[in-house]
Amino acid sequence: MAESALLSIRHLTTEFIQQPDKRVSRALADVSFDVLPGQTLGLVGESGCGKTTTLMSVMRLLPANARISGQVLFKGIDLLRLNEKQMRAYRWKELAIVFQGAMNALNPVMPVGQQIREAILLHKLLPPREAELRVGELLELVGIARERGGQYPFQYSGGMRQRAMIAMALACSPSVLFADEPTTALDVMVQAQVLELLKKIQQSLGLAIVLVTHDLGVVAEMCDSVVVMYGGKVAEYASVDAIYNNPQHPYTQKLLESFPDLNQSAASNLTLASIPGSPPRLTELPPGCRFEPRCHVRLEKCKTEAPPLRNVAEHHYSACHLFLDGQE
Ligand SMILES: Nc1ncnc2c1ncn2[C@@H]1O[C@H](COP(=O)(O)OP(=O)(O)OP(=O)(O)O)[C@@H](O)[C@H]1O
Ligand code: SF4
Ligand SMILES: [Mg+2]
Repeated sequence: MAESALLSIRHLTTEFIQQPDKRVSRALADVSFDVLPGQTLGLVGESGCGKTTTLMSVMRLLPANARISGQVLFKGIDLLRLNEKQMRAYRWKELAIVFQGAMNALNPVMPVGQQIREAILLHKLLPPREAELRVGELLELVGIARERGGQYPFQYSGGMRQRAMIAMALACSPSVLFADEPTTALDVMVQAQVLELLKKIQQSLGLAIVLVTHDLGVVAEMCDSVVVMYGGKVAEYASVDAIYNNPQHPYTQKLLESFPDLNQSAASNLTLASIPGSPPRLTELPPGCRFEPRCHVRLEKCKTEAPPLRNVAEHHYSACHLFLDGQE
C-alpha cells in the first residue's frame, strides 16, 4: 500500500461482546487501507458491512463492549496504543468526523453558532473570546453568513444544518475528515451543493476525506480511491478508475451492475440493496468467503477457505479465490 499515507489502517479488527450471553459479533476483520493527504477515499458496501464501525474504531469512539485490534497509524503513530488522554491530541484536532445522521443531532433549543462555539471550547482549542471569531470564520467557510449563527436549527434548511455539522467537525482544523453518509437525507440538488462544498474545502484546506456513501455515482464524482467492504472485510480496494473499469471482485461487479446508470445516479439515489440474498450474520460467520452464499461464480473451496486480500495489480487489491487461482 502507499508509503506517503497520512493514515494507514492495518488489520483492523473490531468485535462487540454481546450481553448477557457474551456472544462475539465480529463487525470488522482484518481491514487495511490507506488515506492519502488531500485525497478522497470512498467507503462503500451494503448496510451493516462495517463502514461506520471502521470510522468509529479509528476515532476510538466505540462503546465499552467493543474489542479492537490491529493498527491505526497516523503519521506513523499507532493511535490504538495511546491512552485516552494522549488520544485527545488527535481526535478532532487531526481526525474529525461528521456522524451519520448528524444534522438531526443539533440541539433544537440552542442557536447553531453557540453549539459550534461550545464544541470549540470543549476541545479547549481557543479562549472564549477567540472562539466567537472562529465560529464566524467556520460558518463562512461552509457558506453560511456569520449573522445566521444566532439562529436556531429549525430556522436552517437540511443542507444548512449539514453544513453546520461540517463546520463543527472542522473547528480544530483536522487533516482528515470522515464524512459518514453526509448527503443521504438530503434532496438531490442540496446533495450536490454539500458535495461541492466538501470539494471546495478540501482544496482550500488540503484535507483528506473518507467518504462513506451508498451512492456509487457520488463515489465516481468525488473519490480518488475506493474500499468496497463486505461482511466486515475489505472485498476490493483500488483507484476509482480501476473499480469502475476493471472490477475484480464478484461483489464489486454485482454492485456496479445493480447501479443502472452512473450518469443518472444523482437523480435516482439508488441504494445497493438489489443483489439477491443478504449479508452474513456477524455472530455466525461462514468459515470460507463471506460472499459465497450470494456469489454467482463461486468455487468449491470458497465454502471452506477464506480468500486473503491480495495485490492483483498496482494499487489494486482483491479478496477472491477466482482471480488469485488464475494467478497461481
Ligand atoms: N455497539 C454495537 N454492538 C453490537 N453490534 C454492533 C454495534 N455497533 C455496530 N454493530 C454491528 O456491526 C455491524 C456493522 O455496523 P455498521 O454500523 O458499521 O454498518 P454500516 O456499514 O455503517 O451500515 P449502514 O450503511 O446501515 O450505516 C452491524 O452488524 C451492526 O449491527
Ligand atoms: S472467493 Fe469465491 S465465493 Fe468469494 S467472491 Fe470469490 S469466487 Fe465468489
Ligand atoms: Mg453506517
